[in-house]
Parts: sequence; C-alpha cells; structure tokens
Amino acid sequence: MEIEQLDIETEGHKSKILIGEQLTAFSKYIPGKNTAIVTDENIMRHYGSLFEGFPTIVLGTGEKNKTLTTIDFIMEKLVETGADRSWFLLGVGGGIVCDTTGFAGSVFMRGIPFGFVSTTLLSQVDASVGGKNGVNHRGYKNMIGTFNQPEFVICDHSLLKTLEKKEFLSGFAEIVKHGAIRSLAHFEYLEKNLSLALAANNEVIHKLVCDSVNIKAQVVRNDEREQGERRILNFGHTLGHSIEKITGVTHGEAISLGMILAAKLSVKKGYLHQAEEERLSSLLQRIGLPVQPHVDAHTLIDTMLKDKKRDGDNMHFVFLKGLGNAVSKKISITQLEKLIYDLY
Ligand SMILES: NC(=O)c1ccc[n+]([C@@H]2O[C@H](COP(=O)([O-])OP(=O)(O)OC[C@H]3O[C@@H](n4cnc5c(N)ncnc54)[C@H](O)[C@@H]3O)[C@@H](O)[C@H]2O)c1
Repeated sequence: MEIEQLDIETEGHKSKILIGEQLTAFSKYIPGKNTAIVTDENIMRHYGSLFEGFPTIVLGTGEKNKTLTTIDFIMEKLVETGADRSWFLLGVGGGIVCDTTGFAGSVFMRGIPFGFVSTTLLSQVDASVGGKNGVNHRGYKNMIGTFNQPEFVICDHSLLKTLEKKEFLSGFAEIVKHGAIRSLAHFEYLEKNLSLALAANNEVIHKLVCDSVNIKAQVVRNDEREQGERRILNFGHTLGHSIEKITGVTHGEAISLGMILAAKLSVKKGYLHQAEEERLSSLLQRIGLPVQPHVDAHTLIDTMLKDKKRDGDNMHFVFLKGLGNAVSKKISITQLEKLIYDLY
C-alpha cells in the first residue's frame, strides 16, 4: 500500500501525517537515540519488543489515566532518564496516549518536539490529527491542554488487527462525524462499503482514514485555535462528552449518542429533515454503535453546563443543516435546556 502524506501547516510549523506507514519504520522519523517513547500497557504487550533501546514510559489504560497525575509521572520518568531540551517524545497508542504525550511534550522544559504512532482507528481518523493535546480534570474532559502540532503522525492500519472489536467500532463514530459535518460523499462511501469496512478491508480503511484526515486537516488549517470554523468538529461532542462522563462508555459510543441528540435538536430547530436524522441513526446502528442514550435530561444538562465549552450564558452548539453541512450557532443556555427537555 502506498503511503499517503498529508501536511498540516499552521503558524509556520509543518506537521506530516503519514497514512499507511508502518510502526516498524518509526526510527526513520525521529531525530535519533535521544527519544523517549510513551505508550500504554496494551501496546507494550503487543508491540513492546519494537521499542528496545529506547527509554519507554508505560501508562495505564482508560480515561482515568488521562490526568495531571500521569503528566507528573511522565515528567518524573523523563528527569530520571536524563532527558533535556534536545530530546524527542514519541507517543505510540490511541487517543489517550496521543493526547497525554502531546501535552507532556508541550510543557516538558517549556516544550520539546513530539510525534505519534496512532494505533486505534479513532486516533488515526481524528485524535492524533489537529494539534489539540490535553488531559481531563476531576472527570471533565480535556479541561487542561495546549494547541501544539506533532512533527509527524504515523497511521499504521495493520495495528488495528489487535484492537478489541468495541474499540474498532468506536472509531467509526468519528468517521461518520466527518461525513456528517463536511462531506456527504464520505458519508455515502461508508454507507456503501460498510461490510468491507467492518471486516477491516485494508483499502477501504485506508480511504476512510485518508478522507477523514483530509476533512479534519482542511478545517484545522483555516482555524487552528477554534475561534470559528473548527467548532464544527465538536458535532456530537458537547452532549457526547457529558454522556461519556456520566456512563463511562467508549469515546466513540458517546459521540454516536451525542450526534443523534444533536441531529434531533437540529430537526427541532427546523434545520434538518427528519429523514436525514433517520439516515444518520440507521448508519450508526448498522455499525453497531448505540443511538439510545440512557441518561436523564437533568443529569445530562447539569453535566454539560460544567463543560469548558460554556461561554457565559451562551454556548456554541453544532447543528446539522443537512448531511454534509454543519453549522456552529451561539445559543442561550436557557433555550438549549428547553430544547433538550423537549426531546425527552
Ligand atoms: N485530540 C483530539 O483532537 C481528539 C479527538 C478525538 C478524541 N480524542 C480523545 O481520544 C481518546 C479516545 O481515543 P481512543 O479511542 O483511541 O482510546 P484509547 O487510547 O483509550 O484506546 C482504546 C483502547 O485500545 C487499546 N489499544 C490501542 N491501540 C491498540 C492496538 N493496536 N491493539 C490493541 N489494543 C490497542 C488501548 O490500550 C485502550 O485500551 C479520548 O480521550 C478522546 O477525548 C482526542
């Protein structure tokens, strides 16, 4: 398979996304031996032998580890290793390892360069691209973080074979999101090729990753720091993050539920046809993602209001104006609360 290289240039910095490159080739992209690897227990078990000769920092798994305590642990290990400003940090893992490594790299000695090998479908299509790094704070998602681009991201599809099915399916939520917000063609490609995609057909996965990364890269190039257009990437995330916190489902499952709720609100606002919401729901169900949130309206709203996306008495909420066309609207919290209560 040919390697597809995509560049994201922001504020004079170029980040290379290498889709179809192999984990085994990572040493071609790092500056040399002064590299520390950050990974998690599962990746270490499957692929740890490839990291021989590099100091390796192994994290636990799950959102509970995406915290400042883990950042403190990484700092301690880097200091013990004797790392200084000339060092490079390589995160090998899913979204949690990438988000954490990017943040650690951004703050260690005021910032050292870092790169990722992305090992889950979700991180290949979304989490490792775009330069948002960070950790959760007291259970609230991504409250502390930076905007800082990795030097490179390797998306090796062959690593997906060891991923648990639930985690593999979780990645499809962000693929659906990219289609729903920006490209009906991407959405339709997934609808038409779903059986092959679910069977992890290499060509289909490669195209889905390339197209998803392209969509995200276009948005990020225009608005790296989320002052406007980039907000559309949060489609399904405002309520999805609350569902993730309340129920502990995977990130992709929570985003599936968040997208359904946001699509239903879009129908209520008169932006989206009911048939389009049903088409979105049907695709998510065919994938095996949940579409029925088992969370009461009061808890959902209460959790949402503590999220960092609040802006005084208003919030930016992403609606669909059709499949392939998202808009971010500033809406008063009172109106949003009423819309959500009306759904129940
Ligand atoms: N920075 C961003 O722009 C952005 C975007 C979307 C999501 N995210 C974040 O990404 C996180 C979710 O990422 P995720 O879904 O990759 O979760 P994850 O990192 O928790 O990985 C899921 C599970 O799969 C295991 N795993 C990873 N790769 C494997 C492999 N190849 N073989 C076997 N097991 C493997 C991990 O150990 C973990 O148990 C969330 O914290 C979310 O907030 C960030």
